[in-house]
Amino acid sequence: MHKLEFPTDFLWGAATAAYQIEGAWQADGKGESIWDRFTHTLGKIVDGSTGDVACDHYHRWADDIALMKSLNIQSYRFSVAWPRILPAGRGQVNQAGLDFYSRLVDGLLAADIMPFVTLYHWDLPQALQDEGGWPQRSTAEAFVEYTDVISRHLGDRVKHWITHNEPWCIAFLSHQIGEHAPGWQNWPAALRTAHHTLLSHGWAVPVILRNSPGAQVGITLNFEPAEPASASIADLHAARRREGYFSRWFIDPLYGRHYPADMVAEYETAGYLPNGLDFVADGDLAAIAAKTDFLGVNYYTRAVARDEDAPDNLPQTVFVAPLDERTEMGWEVYPQGLYNLLNRLHFEYQVPKLYVTENGCSYSDGPNDQGEIVDQRRLNYLRDHFAAVRRAISNGVPLAGYFVWSLMDNFEWAKGYTQRFGIVWVDYATQQRIPKASALWYRDVIRNNGWTEGEE
Ligand code: FCB
Repeated sequence: MHKLEFPTDFLWGAATAAYQIEGAWQADGKGESIWDRFTHTLGKIVDGSTGDVACDHYHRWADDIALMKSLNIQSYRFSVAWPRILPAGRGQVNQAGLDFYSRLVDGLLAADIMPFVTLYHWDLPQALQDEGGWPQRSTAEAFVEYTDVISRHLGDRVKHWITHNEPWCIAFLSHQIGEHAPGWQNWPAALRTAHHTLLSHGWAVPVILRNSPGAQVGITLNFEPAEPASASIADLHAARRREGYFSRWFIDPLYGRHYPADMVAEYETAGYLPNGLDFVADGDLAAIAAKTDFLGVNYYTRAVARDEDAPDNLPQTVFVAPLDERTEMGWEVYPQGLYNLLNRLHFEYQVPKLYVTENGCSYSDGPNDQGEIVDQRRLNYLRDHFAAVRRAISNGVPLAGYFVWSLMDNFEWAKGYTQRFGIVWVDYATQQRIPKASALWYRDVIRNNGWTEGEE
């Protein structure tokens, strides 16, 4: 029997996002967000649902802290809803919104759970959208105002800050593919959004450090490492192009490498940069490359790329895994990809410190006759990804912690409530929470800071 042990200071956590769990969409002076507007628009969400109530975490936060405590969770990554703080996006501050997050943070600290705060997990105030949203530079300026307000308020107690969650989703999934709010299909707008998101990150870093002395600041990117479908040069090129679109466009400027030249050329040829990079002002790239303390990595699956154009000039991706190796999102289970990715980020970009800020899987296994939820596939998924993470650490990758997505089942954006990512089951009719087998196993892994192989 072999025990897999983690470094003694390794941080074990769980993650959520405001819109996916809080509900209370109109409570206590909160402004409307683009996700409120989007979900209230017919046809945008597969099951017609909304986050109006979601997990009602806004009212049940104290119980949810107790739940985390019972699972030995050491750190909780949550996001702040910008429209609770500044209902119109800028200007008037809503004290009740600040008070909510203040109580949450105090509750976490009292339970000895370290708060990891994400500033933007996609719920832009609708008022800013009405002015043009992220394609406008003024939205980046408003983000800095919001960052200043919230970091001044929580900065004495919160010492870990993530500016943005998944700029690829903010830019492309929301403005080019159109599956997420605000649902645009406009390449030039998506590229401008990418820039303003990164710029607002760079501008926010010194503001957070000023308001929260000694804090650690980072950004979270999502990665789907691309592998070629064959050894042909054409497929190799397709894989590189896919990463150019999905990750290099973000990580390169963040680590001082400018936007990747191959992708700039491609987007110019395609007409996606009608005025070139005119939205990049002097000093922007230096601001974006602001020194940060860590990079957050969200990893769910890999992409396999083939040299065939998909609709809308995207690099084509294909599935090579059998159906039973995919989760209910259709995503291949591929722990080796996380191992490869962490190594690359460390050795190629010299990232000084990494956290896995999201990793997990969607399986709908529910309560059996005894009321237990035996989500063995999720337990296996977590176990195999923990093992990948452990191997990366042995290679010298400075990985400081891991956050499972998600603490509990929740509103999965355009998929509504059809996908369950939680290690805790949520009965949406009663709001009862039931830890699944994976949560109970995770609790023991945390207690032992590892596990004995074969005993899971
Ligand atoms: C990520 C999001 C997170 C959740 C997971 C499944 O892209 O950051 O909110 O929806 O996917």
